[in-house]
Order: sequence, then structure tokens, then C-alpha cells
Amino acid sequence: MNIVALVGSLRKDSYNMQIAKTMQERYEGQLNIQIADIGSLPFYDQDQENNPPQSVKEFKESIANADGVIIITPEFNWSVPGVLKNAIDWASRVEKVFINKPVMTLGATLGMLGTVRAQMHLREILSSPGVQARVLPPGGNEILIGLVQQKVDVKTGKLVDENTLHFLDDKVNMFIDFVKSV
Ligand SMILES: Cc1cc2nc3c(=O)[nH]c(=O)nc-3n(C[C@H](O)[C@H](O)[C@H](O)COP(=O)(O)O)c2cc1C
Repeated sequence: MNIVALVGSLRKDSYNMQIAKTMQERYEGQLNIQIADIGSLPFYDQDQENNPPQSVKEFKESIANADGVIIITPEFNWSVPGVLKNAIDWASRVEKVFINKPVMTLGATLGMLGTVRAQMHLREILSSPGVQARVLPPGGNEILIGLVQQKVDVKTGKLVDENTLHFLDDKVNMFIDFVKSV
């Protein structure tokens, strides 16, 4: 199953990027996860949307060709980081590549609430007319990783907290079934 991952942090030592890399390795047999380089996308500009820069074309093609998308994001000021919103905005215009695309969202923060506000915003964004993604339904499927600094290995940066990993395994299996059902 081919999956594109969007990571909402550009920071070199980003916890969210580390989780994306942990998932890439851990689910290798089940999922082929490619992490999109959303930091290389220019700011969305309506004047360019019909003939966008190459980086945008490639990004949109990668989503169009994927079986599903996993969004792994921190929360910035109670919402999604601008870099992630920018990527979704490009994808929501002309060829609307998110329409009916299965999407799973998760996120990690230093605080206890584990991106709950950001993910609530994200679900709204993903429901908007230009996006219309099929998001793994809530109701036990919210993956909110709070206090992430206590759940990663300080040397490797990899997610090592067993409870979180088992929860993630369960939700990834659910997402795989969801992708197959769409
Ligand atoms: C601009 C900015 C805004 C932030 N706002 C929030 C917030 O609203 N809620 C929260 O839990 N953490 C917030 N944080 C802290 C992040 O959880 C923390 O920086 C986290 O490590 C970012 O994810 P990363 O490690 O993947 O870069 C904010 C951090 C920054 C830099």
C-alpha cells in the first residue's frame, strides 16, 4: 500500500518527523511510506495554480497516486502549522487530489493535550469543499501523543513508548482496512 506522509514540522530534530520515520520502519512490510518534502513548496499563489512550480506538480502527483495519506503534525498556536496548511491549499485547487483520499491524522506535542486542537482544525480543513478527504472517523481513532519528549529514545529520537506503539499499531491496522474499504 503506497502512502504519502505529510509532516507539519520542518525542524531538524522534530518529534513529529521522528514519528514519521518510526512508522516508515515499523510498518515497512505493510506500508510503503514516502515522506513528502512540503517545506520545499512555495507559498500558495492563485496566480500560479494553473501552471504551478515543479515542486507543487510533483507533490500533487504523489498524493494523486497514493492509496492514502498520513498527516503527522505538531500543534502551533492551537492550530495546524502554516507549512501544512500551505501544502493542503495547493492540493485543494485545480486537480483536487485529496477528494475521497483516505487520510489518517496524528500528532505529538510537548504538552499533555497532544495536538487535540490542531487535529480538530485539521479535520475541518480536510472536510472543506476543495479537500473532501475521507478521514479515518473519530471515536477512539484520534492519535494524540502528549508529553512526547518522554516517549522517544534520547539517543536515536525514535518513538519507543510501548503503550503508544501498540496503540499506533492498532490504529494503523484500522487505517489499512479503511483504505481497502474506500
Ligand atoms: C510557534 C509554536 C507554537 C506552538 N504552539 C503550541 C500549541 O498551541 N500547543 C502545544 O501543545 N504545543 C505548542 N507548541 C510546542 C510544540 O508542541 C513543540 O515545539 C513540538 O516539539 C513541536 O513539534 P516538533 O518537535 O515536531 O517540531 C508550539 C511551538 C511553536 C514553535
